[in-house]
Amino acid sequence: MDKIEIVGGKPLTGAINISGAKNAALPIMAASLLTNKRLTISNIPFLSDIESMIKLLQSLNVRIKRSGNSLSLISSKPNSLSASYDLVRKMRASFLILGPLIARYGKASVSLPGGCAIGTRPVNLHIEGLRQMGVNFEIENGYVSGKINGSLRGAEIKLEKVSVGATENLILAATLARGKTIIKNAAREPEISDLCNMLIKMGAEINGVGTKKIIIKGKKKLEGCTYKIMPDRIESGTFVLCVFGCTGTVLLKNLNMEVCNHLIKIFKKLKSLELKILKEGRNLLVKRLNDKKIFLSIKTKEYPGFPTDLQAQLTSALLKTKGKSEIEENIFENRFMHVSELIRMGAKLRQKGSKVIINGTDRLNGAEVMATDLRASSSLVIAGLMAHGKTIINRVYHLDRGYENIEKKLKQCGANINRLKK
Ligand code: EPZ
Repeated sequence: MDKIEIVGGKPLTGAINISGAKNAALPIMAASLLTNKRLTISNIPFLSDIESMIKLLQSLNVRIKRSGNSLSLISSKPNSLSASYDLVRKMRASFLILGPLIARYGKASVSLPGGCAIGTRPVNLHIEGLRQMGVNFEIENGYVSGKINGSLRGAEIKLEKVSVGATENLILAATLARGKTIIKNAAREPEISDLCNMLIKMGAEINGVGTKKIIIKGKKKLEGCTYKIMPDRIESGTFVLCVFGCTGTVLLKNLNMEVCNHLIKIFKKLKSLELKILKEGRNLLVKRLNDKKIFLSIKTKEYPGFPTDLQAQLTSALLKTKGKSEIEENIFENRFMHVSELIRMGAKLRQKGSKVIINGTDRLNGAEVMATDLRASSSLVIAGLMAHGKTIINRVYHLDRGYENIEKKLKQCGANINRLKK
């Protein structure tokens, strides 16, 4: 297994090209199951989660060709309409094939994902929504099998809790359902809007994109299209926090207006203290100003709030600030696996229920640490860059799920970071 070695303590200076968004690319790739026409998707980030989705779609008879950062996908009728435990366990987004397969072929069977490092993560909302569209489900041997007599029918579905994945699965299914589907209390993440915009290019009729109420009028069939994936706002936010933790000036390139505005908004509290974020067209210039005392209190929330996917990285970035801060995790119940690893590096922080409380310290020390999930891994990278001496991060396959060429991008900004191949 590869490891990452970092010798910390250097400010970051340079420019970074932001990759396409993983969490937009995955549902967009699943949308290939809705048509037998070609989809050509560009700005795909090459990550292990994308490789897992490619394997899953290939097992469902989707022919996939890669050219640079583009994929072409053509889906034909599969022999088997099932996703195995092995694939779903590795990547929960595999569950997103359930809606499209049932919509196109009338049935599908997908392994239940179970728990993971960040919490229990149930899929009841996906299942309940599809049930309201007429699907009968059976749960047997860890698999959920859905079947419909005739075709899916539109329904009015109110999600009991805001869920990105359930909103996406239901939108995907509803594009081929009979009649109108209304999804209330829908998640509003920009990656969902990216999925909707591509489905509209495929001929879907969707209103209320980016709002809590999404209305989809089902079509008999969808066409092919070409589409460019939006920039990754979580990768971008991670680099903003690298600059905050390490000091320096970095230009983040290839963003779009929405991602720029979102980052400026979520980092407003830091901005008013000591981070300068300037929009330069589709780029963002990020600069850490001088040390002031920071007393930050932030809660993670659904979009447009502060994302849970940046909670661990923000924790690391605050470790050397003067003052005391707290971050409350409101989306997942157990997303604090990084805390004990950071303590091993000399961080002064503690977890109290759903909060992490950070007392700034002058010095972090490099140590050998273990990555436990994707964003916990990037928080360890940030801490390693901020620490005195050498940090070795084990299990970096977690990092490779969501960050394209992270060590190359940071190296370009002067970081001393290397991958140790095994
Ligand atoms: C998506 O996961 C993202 N993954 C996650 O990104 C992200 O952390 C999460 O949304 C929240 O923003 C992808 O887009 C591929 P949810 P998802 O359904 O869809 C509960 C990353 O680091 N819930 O919005 O699985 C659930 O337990 C990751 O890139 C139910 O109760 O998240 C959680 O508390 C990891 N029942 C909350 O809703 C359900 O049926 C939000 O989960 C579904 C979810």
